[in-house]
Amino acid sequence: MENIKAYIQEHKDRFINELIELLKMPSVSANPAFSLDIINTAAAVKASLEKAGCDFVEICDTPGNPIVYGEKIIDPNLPTILVYGHYDVQPADPIELWTSPPFEPVIKKTETHPDGAIFARGSCDDKGQMYMHVKALEYMIQSNTLPCNVKFMIEGEEEIGSKSLSWFVERNQEKLKNDVILISDTGMISNQQPSITTGLRGLSYVEVEVTGPNRDLHSGLYGGAVANPINILAKMIASLHDENNHINIPGFYDNVAELSLEERAEMAKAPFNLDNYKKALDLNDIYGEKGYNTNERNSIRPTLDVNGIWGGYTGEGAKTVIASKAFAKISMRLVPNQDWEQITELFTKHFISIAPAGVTVKVKPHHGGQGYVTPTDSIGYKAANMAYTETFGVPAIPVRSGGSIPIVALFEKELKSKTILMGFGLDSDAIHSPNEHFGIFNYLKGIETIPLFYKYFVELSK
Ligand code: BES
Ligand code: MN
Ligand code: MN
Repeated sequence: MENIKAYIQEHKDRFINELIELLKMPSVSANPAFSLDIINTAAAVKASLEKAGCDFVEICDTPGNPIVYGEKIIDPNLPTILVYGHYDVQPADPIELWTSPPFEPVIKKTETHPDGAIFARGSCDDKGQMYMHVKALEYMIQSNTLPCNVKFMIEGEEEIGSKSLSWFVERNQEKLKNDVILISDTGMISNQQPSITTGLRGLSYVEVEVTGPNRDLHSGLYGGAVANPINILAKMIASLHDENNHINIPGFYDNVAELSLEERAEMAKAPFNLDNYKKALDLNDIYGEKGYNTNERNSIRPTLDVNGIWGGYTGEGAKTVIASKAFAKISMRLVPNQDWEQITELFTKHFISIAPAGVTVKVKPHHGGQGYVTPTDSIGYKAANMAYTETFGVPAIPVRSGGSIPIVALFEKELKSKTILMGFGLDSDAIHSPNEHFGIFNYLKGIETIPLFYKYFVELSK
């Protein structure tokens, strides 16, 4: 497909500018203050699909944020690819750590992106990666090379748990019928070494509240005589890991799928440099569960992490106070076979059981989802690998990721089809962090690689 290279060369400035316009829209799903921006972004995505050549596009209302659905059906007898992506983004906070404003995209060169990268919230996760699919469709329509049917489903609640999408999928199984689901919302090893994500972790996200006295107290008058919720919460959280960094919740590991030594040896073949890893994060050493290496710790093993903790006085100067309440947000990353609802229950039961007399504890479940693994011998995987091999000059390596896209397991359950995770981001792209960016190289390479997936998927399906 030499033609696509020429097409990209000719239109790349426009491709970049269109993405920049989309990135200017602050579609933060976590904060209701941005609900109008969510609506506007959905409308912009709809317009882009119409322009690219879908012959039917609609905004589907849900109990939450709208879902953009589009399709181009050329022949019902041909295979159908369902493209999923999300137009919502994470909050930009802490804003003061951005070197340029999060919703005013700029192109800057970085060490890993000598050709430049677009800096903006959502550039890599997921607007940039989602928009590659829109531009790949544009190319296939313009060049008359679309080899099959395509459906697009772009949602606006991925970063807050995809509740409305579950609702939508359960009600629209016929409409969403497909032969394979294609998602670009993950990463790859490097710009020289593509990889295909074959696993995602599940998630259970909870918030805990520890209450002591009925009001904040003078820490001199009452200190030592009543339970301090912050002290207690810290102790309770500390007890959730043992000295080997194993999670101390009864039953937590019961269903964990253990990998064989062969599988672990296979995993270890993926290029990884521990020194570079430490250097990239300014770490003097790594840390984690005994008996597993870094790549295993962040992909095939479950975790428990405090994401935020607060209570008492955190303003300027000192205030002597014993807080009435202390809080924490806790995420547990899960591996295949662990059931997120069961883990949420186990956590809740355990956390309440370890509360000492003198405090009361509440656990509020937020959201969650199951993990996912997919085989490397499916037609979809093979097609993806052939596409990467052609555009990067080397085959892709299968990699299990530590991140979560909970809806993927639901797709398999409800729609009975496999998902192929063709990601083009890099770990250094700072998704969810200040200064998120997406390489121009990656964006254009994605647009080049996607039509090849279509081509090979159709060929292999015959
Ligand atoms: N795109 C990410 C997930 C991801 C990133 C997976 C990189 C693999 C590699 C997605 O937008 C995300 O952030 N998911 C959330 C889960 C959600 C329920 C909030 C996550 O993993 O924290
Ligand atoms: Mn994402
Ligand atoms: Mn995300």
